[in-house]
Amino acid sequence: MTFNSVIEDIKIVIKSIGKRGLLPTLTMVWHEYSFDSKYGIRTKGRQAQNKGKLESTNSKGGKEYQGYSYFLFRKFMNRLAIDFSQSVFVDFGSGKGRVLIMASEYNFKRIIGLEYAEDLFLESQINIGSTKVNASNIHIEHEDAAAYSIPEDANVLFFFNPFDEKVMESVLKNVDASMERTPRKIYIVYTSPTFETCFDERGYEKVFELHNGAKNEGIIYRV
Ligand SMILES: C[S@@+](CC[C@H](N)C(=O)[O-])C[C@H]1O[C@@H](n2cnc3c(N)ncnc32)[C@H](O)[C@@H]1O
Repeated sequence: MTFNSVIEDIKIVIKSIGKRGLLPTLTMVWHEYSFDSKYGIRTKGRQAQNKGKLESTNSKGGKEYQGYSYFLFRKFMNRLAIDFSQSVFVDFGSGKGRVLIMASEYNFKRIIGLEYAEDLFLESQINIGSTKVNASNIHIEHEDAAAYSIPEDANVLFFFNPFDEKVMESVLKNVDASMERTPRKIYIVYTSPTFETCFDERGYEKVFELHNGAKNEGIIYRV
C-alpha cells in the first residue's frame, strides 16, 4: 500500500459519504477490508489496464479494474427470483475474479468470467485457485466481452462498470441474438449504471433498482 493509494482511498470514502451517507459507506469499507481475507483472495484496490497486453480493438472503451462491493453484491443476488441451481451467471469484465467468487456462494450451475486484460485474467486464475470457497464451477475466458457469443443457458448477466457505451451496445446485441435463438428469461444486473438508455431503448423491463442516498447503485432488468 503506497501513500498515494491511501490518499486515493480516502478521497473515494469522502465522495461515497457525500453520495451514500455515513452508515452505508462505513459498512462497505468494513466489508472491503475484511472479506478478501475471509475468501482467501487478493482483489482490493484499483488497477489501470495493462494496455500493452490488449490486442482487442475495444481496449480504448475498457474501464480500469476495481472489484465490486461485497456488501452490495448480496443485495442484488437476494432480489433474483430464480432457481440458482438451474442458472448460469456471466460476469462481463471479471477482473481479478471477485464477483465470480462471491457468485459461487449462490449455488449456480455454472459461473463464467470474461476478462480481456491478460494480467487481470492471470490474477483471477490465481484467486480462483487459492480461494477458501468451492470454486469448481467457475470458468474464466481470456476474451473480449464484445466478441463473446452468449451461451444459450446463460440467464444472469452481471456488469460492474466494465466498458463504454459502444462496447455495451455490441454486448447487448449479442444478448438479443442469444435470446432470439433461445427465448428464455434473462436477468441483467447492471451496477453503477451509466448507459441506461441502451437498456431502456431495447424495452428491457426494470424489476429492481437500489438507491443509497443520492447514489443509484444498480438496476436489475428482465430481458
Ligand atoms: C470495474 S472492473 C470489474 C471487475 C469485476 N467484475 C469485479 O467486480 O470484481 C471492469 C473490468 O472489465 C474489464 N474489461 C473492460 N473492457 C472489457 C472487454 N471489452 N472485454 C472483457 N473485459 C473487459 C477490465 O479489464 C476490468 O477488469
